[in-house]
Amino acid sequence: MRPQDDKLFPAGFAWGAATAAYQIEGAAREDGKGESVWDMLCRKPGAIFQGQNGDVACDHYHRWAEDVALMQKIGLKAYRLSISWPRVLPEGTGRGNAKGLEFYDRLIDGLLAAGVSPWVTLFHWDYPYELFCRGGWLNRDSIDWFAEYISLVVERLSDRVSNWMTFNEPQMFLALGHVAGVHAPGMKYSDAEMLRVCHHAFCAHGKGVQAMRAAARQPLRIGFAPAAFVKIPQNGNPDSVGLAREAMFAVTNRGHFNNAWYMDPVLLGRYPEDGLEQFHDVPLPIQAGDMELMHQPLDWLGANIYGGVTVFPRAGNAGDYPEKVELPGHPMTMMGWHTVPESLYWGPRFLAERYKLPVVITENGMSGHDWLSADGAVHDPYRIEFTRQYLAALKRAVEDGVDVRGYFHWSLMDNFEWAEGYKQRFGFIHVDYATQKRTLKDSAYWYANVIKSNGVDL
Ligand code: GCO
Repeated sequence: MRPQDDKLFPAGFAWGAATAAYQIEGAAREDGKGESVWDMLCRKPGAIFQGQNGDVACDHYHRWAEDVALMQKIGLKAYRLSISWPRVLPEGTGRGNAKGLEFYDRLIDGLLAAGVSPWVTLFHWDYPYELFCRGGWLNRDSIDWFAEYISLVVERLSDRVSNWMTFNEPQMFLALGHVAGVHAPGMKYSDAEMLRVCHHAFCAHGKGVQAMRAAARQPLRIGFAPAAFVKIPQNGNPDSVGLAREAMFAVTNRGHFNNAWYMDPVLLGRYPEDGLEQFHDVPLPIQAGDMELMHQPLDWLGANIYGGVTVFPRAGNAGDYPEKVELPGHPMTMMGWHTVPESLYWGPRFLAERYKLPVVITENGMSGHDWLSADGAVHDPYRIEFTRQYLAALKRAVEDGVDVRGYFHWSLMDNFEWAEGYKQRFGFIHVDYATQKRTLKDSAYWYANVIKSNGVDL
């Protein structure tokens, strides 16, 4: 260890963990909450593993105080949560739901009393079903609906919350939800419809940021949290690094899963040229002022990073960049995702270079075979090793000058993993869904030490 190592993660680094409303809250039809597209998708036969749903989930709506106490036990500095839009606006617009807002009041107050700083995601996918019935993101009015919702929440909570993000993983709710059809609302739209929902969502982000600044009761720090598909250079030579950087921000094969289509409009105020070329035959519903609207100044850039792929030079010009196929037996999580710790080096580095904002890792983690042992503990050495390796890579990025301000592990606790139901366990805290008993896994105790030492011992 070098003497200055304890200074590597900046002072005030947000050591945190993350969750999302639909994945943990439960109370799906309580206290006046409206339906979301996820409530609806879960009723569709075959959509979710074993027909499971988020009706009860981790019952966090009722057990939040116990959960905050566990966060305090881990020593979290920060906690990333999301607000359920239909809980506070049951029809998506118009009539607010006092009981829903009071829940978030209690939770925020509890976090602050425990010394845990709340970081709030405004949209983590539970779109109001009533608004979907009015066309959802296809409808240009969705821009105003989102801004109205944001004003309500920010007016209410911004006296106590300063870190906010608009969207979680636009790639996923837009493309998995509207093209692949495996996430809510479960649509398989054409390219024209898909680019329309994207365009409206990007405008909604911009109008939402304006609404936040207008409603803010203190200066806010606003970001958003896209998924980052990380490309890794074959080696440290400038050519390899350049190629990986190029691949990371390329739009190829008329694909909808990429970085630049979702980040450039919001962060640079333009659609990527290569994407526009590929979708040259698809009309974009751009109106005057839209590109400026999307491109609001942000204070930081979030990134959800789980892995990455190494890229190689391509022979011709067209198509994807050839990617390394991992060798048989390469470590893999329960989700079937390869573990690639270097993604937490190259991801933040390429993002910070291109968008010139401080980076916050808004998600990173793994699902594992976690069960309660006879000794009453949950032993998850793989999660410790996974997180240690990823954090060591992140630390290397900090060392090389990348401005990284926080790390939020996905997840604080096991929860409803969307179409995968409850079979994927990502938490530092084990949840027994039959009894709602929480047990800190070994990794939670390990993470407590990482936080205490500011990452010195990685
Ligand atoms: C996402 C979401 C989380 C997931 C996590 C694990 O990326 O899908 O932000 O809600 O649960 O990423 O898949």
